[in-house]
Amino acid sequence: MSEPADALSRFPRERTWLLPALHALQHRDRWLSPAALEEAADHLRVPRSEVYGVATHYPEFRLTRPGRRVVRVCVGLSCRVRGGLDVLAACERHLGIAAGATTTDGAVTLERLDCAFDCAMAPVVEVEGEHRGRVEVGAVDALLDAPPHPALSPSGGEGSSHLPLPSGERVGVRGSRGFAGSRVAQAGL
Ligand code: FES
Repeated sequence: MSEPADALSRFPRERTWLLPALHALQHRDRWLSPAALEEAADHLRVPRSEVYGVATHYPEFRLTRPGRRVVRVCVGLSCRVRGGLDVLAACERHLGIAAGATTTDGAVTLERLDCAFDCAMAPVVEVEGEHRGRVEVGAVDALLDAPPHPALSPSGGEGSSHLPLPSGERVGVRGSRGFAGSRVAQAGL
């Protein structure tokens, strides 16, 4: 955990804040552990079964601990028509795992992304919250072998789009390190 345990203190104790609260917890922990789900249930006074139901319904929530590095390949429509599935296949070959899995050494988790909200830069690959646009299959090996960007810590969560908090802050909902905002770059490695 990289943020204080009061990640939920910004949220009114009302069930209507369940989704943003889960996003905030995932941002904090990088996944939703059973303890985090209980934390949300306790804070919002929502039955645990309901919290679990919401967390399992939305594919952007990660219910298993990810690898030290998370790579997400966008397979939304814009990216598909520009070769996103080929890029995903190249990532799978390079890492030796299928999308949704983590390498056996726990180094990398590979995920599919429905839309990285950078459609003009399709196809997009997100590495630890940093978007790479117009990725070509031939650039995948170098992209995945590149060292982590020093500005990006190994913790933190999701979110190239953002939901408003009661305080006026915004919480990321998918795709990158939401609170810091996403970083977009062409894959000119
Ligand atoms: S479909 Fe890939 S960024 Fe939108």
